[in-house]
Amino acid sequence: MSNNESFWKRLLKKLTKANELGHEEDVMTDHDYDGIRELDNVLPPWWLIGFYITVAISIFYYIMVYALDKYGQDDEYLAEVAQAEAAIEQYKKDNPELFSDENLVALTDPADIEKGKALFTEKTCTACHLIDGGGSIGPNLTDEHWILGGGFKNVFNTISKGGRPGKGMIAWEATINQKDRQLLASYVLTLQGTTPATPKAPEGDIIWKAGDE
Ligand code: HEC
Repeated sequence: MSNNESFWKRLLKKLTKANELGHEEDVMTDHDYDGIRELDNVLPPWWLIGFYITVAISIFYYIMVYALDKYGQDDEYLAEVAQAEAAIEQYKKDNPELFSDENLVALTDPADIEKGKALFTEKTCTACHLIDGGGSIGPNLTDEHWILGGGFKNVFNTISKGGRPGKGMIAWEATINQKDRQLLASYVLTLQGTTPATPKAPEGDIIWKAGDE
């Protein structure tokens, strides 16, 4: 134990080179500021080592970044952007139904229409258009009159981008993914010709019937 202690003591002394207390006279300078005097202690080796390391690193860094043009922030940034872009491409490839416009057409499979119907309630469309599409705050979706245009493309676009400003129909593309908006638009189109309990009077001058282009 005593051996150990002296080892630590010796190490500490080596790293600090501190002057023993009581021997201040040995390192006292003749500087005297209103009675405050200055000791000329050596820089502690632990500090010096750290300082030399930073100097060495700065030289290495300078050569790498400025002389050899490697590992600079620009390169790191570009590498990360490239990596992120590759990841986006991969994600698009893995989820074609979310991104490709190719398959962006009205779905007719009854299973898809059921999904659209479920989403119509789940995404609170019913709050303004009622469960049967008869309309309240929002227009009647069962008639042949459209404010913003009928047909899959227009309806999909209205759901995605919203209605006229201030009318209450928001752009849902921020909160509903493309696939679900496709299911919703497909479902909305099937409402035409059904008989809601309390149909709102037709609104809009655009006439579109199922089967029209
Ligand atoms: C806060 C009320 C509100 C909610 C919720 C709402 N809508 Fe609307 N919706 C409206 C209003 C109001 C309009 C008419 C917009 C206009 O006049 O520009 C409209 C218009 C539409 C139209 C176009 C009708 C036309 O005549 O051109 C469609 C399609 C539609 N909404 C579908 C949906 C779907 C699908 C949802 C759910 C994701 C939804 N709406 C949620 C209020 C709402």
